[in-house]
Amino acid sequence: MINVAILIISDKSSLGLRDDQTGPALIEALSPHARVRPVQIIPDEFKAIKATLIELADAGEYDIIFTSGGTGLSPRDVTPEATLAAIERPVPGIPEAMRTASLEITPRAMLSRAVAGLRGKTLIINLPGSPKAALENVQVFLPTLEHAVETLRGDAHECADNT
Ligand code: MTE
Repeated sequence: MINVAILIISDKSSLGLRDDQTGPALIEALSPHARVRPVQIIPDEFKAIKATLIELADAGEYDIIFTSGGTGLSPRDVTPEATLAAIERPVPGIPEAMRTASLEITPRAMLSRAVAGLRGKTLIINLPGSPKAALENVQVFLPTLEHAVETLRGDAHECADNT
């Protein structure tokens, strides 16, 4: 069983000023593929994001943590910086693939500064904040989710026949 956590990063949702719709949308998209932990919602604060990512990863219970929000250009968008401070090994191909696919949908995809990487055996992947954008990006990763988890767990002995 693949275990996934979802971390919503939004000032407004964390204060109850906006209903979070992205968490439920991601749970629906990911549930056929993984056991998904109920969403946590935290503000766009570097320290809080970094600390939460480290706590979730070091708990050793999650194969993947998806963050949503805070990857754009606004002054409060610090999710990529906090993620880079929490990870040990970057996995640049994931956000590269997401941006490439997303550019077919909207030129605004180039405004995403999302990153991904490993902390121990947990893969952390940034997604944009809106439900539409988060779903479009997570769909790009779904076909390789299972093999990603096999390899990060050290279970994949052979990548050659992977298509
Ligand atoms: N990617 C897809 N697939 N679809 C989108 O609508 N929106 C973009 C981009 N990536 C978008 C997308 C926009 S408008 C922004 S500002 C960035 O993601 C960052 O979003 P965030 O600040 O909510 O994290």
